Amino acid sequence: RELPASPQSPNGSPRRAAMVVPQLLVLFGSQTGTAQDVSERLGREARRRRLGCRVQALDSYPVANLIHEPLVIFVCATAGQGDPPDNMKNFWRFIFRKNLPSTALCQMDFAVLGLGDSSYAKFNFVAKKLHRRLLQLGGSALLPACLGDDQHELGPDAAVDPWLRDLWGKVLGLCPPPPGLAEIPPGVPLPSKFSLLFLHEVPSAGSEGQQVAHPGSREPPSESQPFLAPMISNQRVTGPSHFQDVRLIEFDISGSALSFAAGDVVLIQPSNSAAHVQQFCQALGLDPEQLFTLQPREPDVLPPTRLPQPCSVRHLVSQYLDIASVPRRSFFELLACLSLHELEREKLLEFSSAQGQEELFEYCNRPRRTIVEVLCDFPYTAAAIPPDYLLDLIPAIRPRAFSIASSMLAHPSRLQILVAVVQFQTRLKEPRRGLCSSWLASLDPDSGQAPVRVPLWVRPGGLAFPEMPDVPVIMVGPGTGVAPFRAAIQERVAQDRTRNVLFFGCRWRDQDFYWEAEWQELEKRGCLTLVPAFSREQEQKVYVQHRLRERGPLVWELLDRQGAHFYLAGNAKSMPADVSEALVSIFQEQGGLCSSDAAAYLARLQRTRRFQTETWA
Ligand code: 2AM
Repeated sequence: RELPASPQSPNGSPRRAAMVVPQLLVLFGSQTGTAQDVSERLGREARRRRLGCRVQALDSYPVANLIHEPLVIFVCATAGQGDPPDNMKNFWRFIFRKNLPSTALCQMDFAVLGLGDSSYAKFNFVAKKLHRRLLQLGGSALLPACLGDDQHELGPDAAVDPWLRDLWGKVLGLCPPPPGLAEIPPGVPLPSKFSLLFLHEVPSAGSEGQQVAHPGSREPPSESQPFLAPMISNQRVTGPSHFQDVRLIEFDISGSALSFAAGDVVLIQPSNSAAHVQQFCQALGLDPEQLFTLQPREPDVLPPTRLPQPCSVRHLVSQYLDIASVPRRSFFELLACLSLHELEREKLLEFSSAQGQEELFEYCNRPRRTIVEVLCDFPYTAAAIPPDYLLDLIPAIRPRAFSIASSMLAHPSRLQILVAVVQFQTRLKEPRRGLCSSWLASLDPDSGQAPVRVPLWVRPGGLAFPEMPDVPVIMVGPGTGVAPFRAAIQERVAQDRTRNVLFFGCRWRDQDFYWEAEWQELEKRGCLTLVPAFSREQEQKVYVQHRLRERGPLVWELLDRQGAHFYLAGNAKSMPADVSEALVSIFQEQGGLCSSDAAAYLARLQRTRRFQTETWA
């Protein structure tokens, strides 16, 4: 089949007439950035094949236009418990509308590339379900859905690489490149998306359109316009002998249009450390104070809204380029194209080849080597990188989500979070540090200088608490998993909802029992039943799931007789499965159910949203 002359044939001519400008559309739903990265790779591969290609997040695409699209590749991650990523939630609601005609997409050829993790029960659920739905709506699948798997030792590429080869075979069959235009071979760089025009005259002071705090603005802050919240306190809440540095961080949100309820999350846009910025600028020979403007080279590419114009190199590197992330394969591909140094180029080509993936994994992913470190390992290449390519080479820093740990009803102008500072050792000398948590931990609101401000905005999280006032809630939150429940308890107590049961787990009462005094006060007032589990105060580990079982009669009574809602939050390793298992055995012991009925009981609670989870890695 051929593609139409234009996506929308105005004169009603047959849609699959001879093609003039092959237009491929890549739409992605990405939670952690992998799906976006793969989509951008598709875009680059299309450009090499001289195919017009747009790459967009699903929710920023006007979905009503979809019926006019001849050829669409969907790249979708599956988040958490089988959920679509946040930037495709509107599309997801649209595509499953009951009133869409079964021929709605009969003009469309499509392919679905899924990214998931086979250690979760609903592996690639979003991609599989979308593939089925597109067929149901009359679309023609070019090939079966690709099921990329994070658990594979080579990562999702193990499935993605062969699938893409098949895909290009099919796509080029449908829309061969214009005659006379050969493919751009892999070793030649594609043109950069932007030109960086360095300013030789320094504009008047203050013209580097820094973000502003928007006090008094009525628009709720968002990714493109975050609120620059003053940090009020940053306090370590784990004892000195605890291995983990956990911070209770408080922001002043007065004057902002921020509004949130229990269960919502705050997104924080972190920056790179000054040391990394300096190392990076040195490796590339960039002057951090140099100002530039950004000019897109292609008509449908817009400069990132987060960057002021003009912008300084320091601002770009510290607040936009994710130089402390582990580079992806595409980074090595482009770097190899840009390298003028024979030995370095050879190594970079190896890392970007299919055969070199195991070695790349050992060099980069296993020890969590960062972009700055890689650039220091390839000094000749780094020093010769044309600045125009910086935004093609290095991804943007992504915001990080934290469960909000305070309620607006209790503290109207405050927002609190509980942050575990991520730090671990690999075989590299320098410890690996989580960008956002380390950056937050490094900020000192009492430094006495200008207020420390953090760009943030909020969005609904995965937990919603009951609207009916008399519904009891049971919450299970070991470690920092307790954060959203602190917000929920504050909110519910402020509304006189006193039937709250909290199972909290930590190692030692005197080291990591967050908010102990506050819980005790609420217990005294009859607003809370607290069941702590101290894992290391006795020989045998005691976890929240053990305490749940001990309180089986109470749990069953509340769930089965009183319609309680059950919530679980925290670290996603084996805790969620262990807690679910404890619940199933409570249903058997207390409710007299057989094991399959007990499992069905739990599944029903999940389906009716009376069992909700929010877990993180
Ligand atoms: P541990 O570190 O002593 O093993 C918060 O991190 C608490 O959760 C700690 O007490 C930790 O115990 C505990 N924890 C670790 N693994 C768990 C699991 N699978 N289920 C429940 N709690 C767990």
